[in-house]
Amino acid sequence: MALLIGVPKETAPGEKRAATVPEVVEKLVKLGFSVAVESGAGDAANCSDEAYRAAGAEVLPDSATLFQRADIVFKVRPPSAEEVALLREGAMLVGFVWPAQNPELMQQLAAKKATVLAIDALPRQLSRAQKMDALTSQAGVSGYRAVIEAANAFGRFFNGQITAAGKVPPAKVFIAGAGVAGLAAIGTAANLGAIVRANDTRAEVADQVVSLGGEFVKVDYEEEGSGGGGYAKVMSEGFQAAQREMYAKQAREVDIIITTALIPGKPAPKLITAEMVATMKPGSVIVDMAAEQGGNCELTVPGQAVVRHGVTIVGYTDLASRLAKQSSTLYATNLLRLLEELCKTKDGTVNVNFEDDAIRGLTVIKEGAITWPAPPPKLPPAPPKPKADAAAPAAAKASKGHGHGSVEPMSAKTLAIVFAVGAVLFWFVGAYAPASFLQHFTVFVLACFVGYMVVWNVTPSLHTPLMSVTNAISSIIAIGALVQVAPPLDAAGAADRPNTLILVCAVVALVLTAINMFGGFAVTRRMLDMFRK
Ligand code: NAI
Repeated sequence: MALLIGVPKETAPGEKRAATVPEVVEKLVKLGFSVAVESGAGDAANCSDEAYRAAGAEVLPDSATLFQRADIVFKVRPPSAEEVALLREGAMLVGFVWPAQNPELMQQLAAKKATVLAIDALPRQLSRAQKMDALTSQAGVSGYRAVIEAANAFGRFFNGQITAAGKVPPAKVFIAGAGVAGLAAIGTAANLGAIVRANDTRAEVADQVVSLGGEFVKVDYEEEGSGGGGYAKVMSEGFQAAQREMYAKQAREVDIIITTALIPGKPAPKLITAEMVATMKPGSVIVDMAAEQGGNCELTVPGQAVVRHGVTIVGYTDLASRLAKQSSTLYATNLLRLLEELCKTKDGTVNVNFEDDAIRGLTVIKEGAITWPAPPPKLPPAPPKPKADAAAPAAAKASKGHGHGSVEPMSAKTLAIVFAVGAVLFWFVGAYAPASFLQHFTVFVLACFVGYMVVWNVTPSLHTPLMSVTNAISSIIAIGALVQVAPPLDAAGAADRPNTLILVCAVVALVLTAINMFGGFAVTRRMLDMFRK
């Protein structure tokens, strides 16, 4: 029998998100489920009761009725004690639960014989799990919103401008921590035209920072910052001292600091001290995205925007909820993807399959039994690292071959033989071939040489656009076909009437070569657009 998914109105103060949106309700219904929404659940996220109804959901008047009827409850925030009391015995709950931080809630849910899927416990390192990764989707929204909040509190443009009224320098933004939220903030601030710098303890994110338009600022201290699973670890005293020095320098130079640094299971590292805030220019802004976990700035007040030493310090803990429609839609899609995994049969029933690493990871309670923490998922083996001695010659080879590492350079002896044979062949051709052939042959040899030099000196990533444009240019068939369609006039001004078959062939050739030419240019344009900002 088809199960009923119930979506209550979120009760946490200020929470505007809804666990599903009308666009997703339609898809849940297609999966075979019935959906019921508490009246007003989506009001703050611009989803009206009517919209839910039109999408196929039933709208129930209050949470008591909803909890009583729902087989599966979708929530955003962890349920309150009252909500747990309303939950039907043996029902399923899907949402953020944070089992490590909420042991009491876990006991209450277990006592209800519930099955609880904590979306925050999803093994994010599994590539298959990415479509269900609500931590990532919500962090992306928060990172974007953090920049918008900073722009709101900042009294200047982000981008540099030259106007009749004077020159405006671009704002300088420093992002501490380049995880999901940090990277979203870097991209947003760079798109607004600011100069963006970022730092993270995990060196591997440097390339990502650059690819989003930021500059990675290193701490002058060698230490591996990865604590496994893509997360950070607590750094040594020496590193922290060097990092403080670098952050103090950034604080003096930049206009906006956005901090996102977190270490799983630990209080947020204190990166911005009160003294650093005091050295910032008046009117500067700090957005502390780690406020809920204690804050990265010493002066942050969680949930509030305060002004200290002339600097606005934003400590909002509801950044994703401040973009409620967007975050609700992404969250609802994450839960839909989860339900698709649970209901492969598309008949509105669920199978909590413990053989599936992703499902096992996020199931924290199964039918009343606490199954958290899950054993680590089986990851595919990492590709073996090339040994240092094997890597060296390979790198040397690659650098000699114009970046095309597989080309073995010829030895001097072979090169001499090739040249000698080539010279003999040229002499032979020059001595015996007719003069008209020689002319064409010279052009051909020069064309090969120029073509080789052009192609080999282009960055490999641009080879596809290069091929498409040379393809377009090489359509000299067009000239041949045009000569056939409209043959040249003789001295008396008369032209030979072309044979009909040749004429038809020439027209077909013209059409095909036109497709080749214009198609080639169109493809080149599209490819080059991908490299433009
Ligand atoms: P997070 O919210 O736990 O931490 C935010 C960032 O703060 C991290 O990049 C961390 O390295 C950094 N940080 C911690 N202490 C710091 C310090 N003292 N100074 C400067 N930076 C510090 O992390 P988030 O955003 O949830 O994800 C962390 C990583 O996990 C990301 O690299 C992300 O790409 C990765 N991830 C991987 C997935 C996958 O493999 N499929 C899925 C989702 C995330």
